[in-house]
Amino acid sequence: MPPEPRPRRAALRGQAISFSGNPFLQAPRDCFVHHEDALILIEDGRIAAFAPYDPALLPPGVTPVHYENALITVGFVDAHVHYPQVGMVGAFGEQLLAWLERYTFPAERAFADPAHAEAAARIFLREILRAGTTTASVYCTVHPHSVDALFAESERFNTLMVAGKVLMDSHAPDDLRDTVESGYEDSLALIRRWHGRGRQHYGVTPRYAGSCSAAQLDSAGALLRGHEGLFLQTHLSESPAEVAWVRDLFPARSSYLDIYAHAGLVRPRAIFGHGIHVGEEEFCTCHAAGAALAHCPTSNLFLGSGLFRLFDALDPRRPVRVAIGTDIGAGTSFSALRTLGEAYKVAALRGDALDGLRAFHLATLGGAAALHLDDRIGRIAPGYDADLCVLGLDATPFLAFRTARCERVEDLMFVLMTLGDERAVRATWVAGECVYDAARRPDPFRYADGAAAG
Ligand code: GUN
Ligand code: ZN
Repeated sequence: MPPEPRPRRAALRGQAISFSGNPFLQAPRDCFVHHEDALILIEDGRIAAFAPYDPALLPPGVTPVHYENALITVGFVDAHVHYPQVGMVGAFGEQLLAWLERYTFPAERAFADPAHAEAAARIFLREILRAGTTTASVYCTVHPHSVDALFAESERFNTLMVAGKVLMDSHAPDDLRDTVESGYEDSLALIRRWHGRGRQHYGVTPRYAGSCSAAQLDSAGALLRGHEGLFLQTHLSESPAEVAWVRDLFPARSSYLDIYAHAGLVRPRAIFGHGIHVGEEEFCTCHAAGAALAHCPTSNLFLGSGLFRLFDALDPRRPVRVAIGTDIGAGTSFSALRTLGEAYKVAALRGDALDGLRAFHLATLGGAAALHLDDRIGRIAPGYDADLCVLGLDATPFLAFRTARCERVEDLMFVLMTLGDERAVRATWVAGECVYDAARRPDPFRYADGAAAG
């Protein structure tokens, strides 16, 4: 008998926090595990142990990477982001519908060139890892090769990713439109190529009701029914002008969400971006269906779209699954910390207070649960994928000064989301490999196989 292959092992040491419950629904104290000095043991890409540091727990030959003056958390989940829009973040002066026409469609047109898509995918993966994000639900463009480029680069880092080809057969420039048939066939080929390959997952992606005919939305429903475990991503009730226009396009439907429900799209693993201008009935429908809303505060403020009703969505009587999204390129930051800081301000404008504990839950276990992936990612706990983010408390002189005055980990999280951004991310681990180390020179990025990633 050949010997059993030896497990790949690694260990991290440092202050760490992981959620075990939902602080929007349970007593906050019962929802998390916090160790001032933790040992995280990793075996073959998964967490093997999470415990107070004790050298006796270390397997022979394993030396932990010691992160001092840090907070280790699971990697962040970004549930709504457009990788083709990396080159147009900060496009001046328009609200949603004019912004799409003036900036977004021209930017996405450039993805007809596969080399352009590959270059954007390289930048995108590095920016999310630099921000401590290890899972994202990503819109590509209408071009199938834009999906290949994203998944290929994600596969090299071994990140758990959801992505899909945008479907749009209406109200878009000629060279960015598909048809019901071509959109279906192209999506099907991509599903066969990528869905369930390693950590890559396909998300059927009708852009929104403004760019899809009823027949195309129906075809998205048919794709979802045809394969296990697919995701669905689209936009919902983002801006008042968009909501009014979509109502005119689908006069027979009782609400914006009803357009999607009619096509069989309101279901588990459906992620609706924004959902700002929705009513109680739509919250109830999402709750009952296990569908999620992605709250994208930097985008909503940048485009002037409105204030998401976070605490209404999470009403414990019928909580909707809510994740956060950066919504690059209407959003203005890749950083989950920045995004949470802006979510605090949006909540404040509505008279609510989003504390650090609840906020970090949204960006980690809450995001994983929104995607129905909370049995695999979102916790530091035995059996979970070892996707981790190491936040340095001394990333800037002022952050060091301010975090030194935090007594409880809850305060630390709140200060991190108020003052922190990519600079606070010291390292990002994906499936047990340190793929980003801010201090590694000359090359902070490394692919999962150890190759320098530039
Ligand atoms: N609605 C339809 N497409 C888009 C997009 O690309 N970004 C945002 N923020 N909203 C949309
Ligand atoms: Zn979006």
